[in-house]
Amino acid sequence: MQIKKGVSVLKNGKLVAFPTETVYGLGTDAENDDAVLKIFEMKNRPMFNPLICHFKDIDAVRQQAVFNKDAEKLAAKLWPGPLTIVMNKNKKCTVSNIASSGLRTIACRIPSNPIARDLLEKFNGIIAAPSANISSRLTATSKKHVVKNFGKKIFIIDGGTSEFGIESTVVDLSQETPRILRPGAIENKIIKEILPNLIENDDNNMPIKSPGQLYKHYSPNIPLRLNVKDVKKNEVLLNFGKNNLKSRIKEINLSINSDLREAAKNLFKFLYELDNKKYSGIAIAPIDNKGMGIAINDRLKRAAFTE
Ligand code: TXA
Ligand code: MG
Repeated sequence: MQIKKGVSVLKNGKLVAFPTETVYGLGTDAENDDAVLKIFEMKNRPMFNPLICHFKDIDAVRQQAVFNKDAEKLAAKLWPGPLTIVMNKNKKCTVSNIASSGLRTIACRIPSNPIARDLLEKFNGIIAAPSANISSRLTATSKKHVVKNFGKKIFIIDGGTSEFGIESTVVDLSQETPRILRPGAIENKIIKEILPNLIENDDNNMPIKSPGQLYKHYSPNIPLRLNVKDVKKNEVLLNFGKNNLKSRIKEINLSINSDLREAAKNLFKFLYELDNKKYSGIAIAPIDNKGMGIAINDRLKRAAFTE
C-alpha cells in the first residue's frame, strides 16, 4: 500500500520520504525539473549542492553515466549498498540539471533497502533524494525524525530505524584518481582494498571538493563540544565506551562496548534526544578515528562548527 501511494506521489511530481539502509531520503522524480526544485525549497538547500540519484539497477545507471574501470569494479562489489559513485554524465543523460547543480557529473547510488528497491522498481525511474532533513540540520534515521523536520507536509514511507544510521560513502570517479568526497557507511579501507590508489580526504587540509561538504552540517539546535575531558554543569553527555565522564543532567552512551557500527547507528537518534534548548549544550566523548569512526567524527566536526 505504502509503495503504491509512493509511486503515484512520484509520478505526480511530488515528494516522498522513504527509508534506505543508510538514512531516510527525501525523494522525487530526478527527470522532472519542477519536482526537483521542490526538494531544494523544502530542505532550504543551496542550489549549488547537487542531489544523489537513486537507481534500481546497474543498467539504469549505465543509461546516464560513464563507467570507467574503477566504477565497474566498485559497482560489481558494493552495489546495491551504501556507496555513492560520482561519475561523468553521458551524452544521453536525462537527469534534471537542477538535481546535479549544473555539473557535468552525477552522483549515483543503488540502495539495498528492500523498501527503497521496491519503490524504485515500481516507479521504474530515477529518484533524486538527499537526506530527509532541513539543510544543515540533523539527519533523519526514523519516520519520527522526518516528521520533526517536515511535519505532515510530505508522504512518508515508514521503514523503521535505519540499518546504518549514517549516510553513504561518496567516491569521486569522474577524474583520474579515485577520491573519497564524504566518508560514510562503507569504510574507506573496504574501498581502498578494491581501488588501492584511492585518496582519502583529510578535510583539515583539503579544499571542499563535494559541494555538500559545507562546514556547518548535521547540526542540533544547541552547541556541541567534541572530545571532552569533562562535562560542564548544564551540559548533557553523549558518551562512548567506558570512562569516567559524567553529566549531572542526562547521559546516553553511543556504545558501551566501543563498537563503532553501533555508535554510527545510534548517532543521529541520540543527538535528537539530547537536542533540547533546556540544556546548555552537548558534551561528546572522544570517539576512535578509525573505521566507521572516521565518518562519525566527520559528522560531529561539522555539527559542532560555528561561524
Ligand atoms: O546515504 C545517503 O547518501 C543518503 C540517502 C538518502 O541516499 N543521501 C544523502 O544525500 O546523504 P545528501 O544530498 O544529503 O548528500 C549528497 C552528497 C552531498 O555532499 C553532495 O554535495 C554530494 O553528495 N554530491 C552529489 N552530487 C555530486 C556531484 N556531482 N559531485 C560531487 N558531489 C556530489
Ligand atoms: Mg544530507
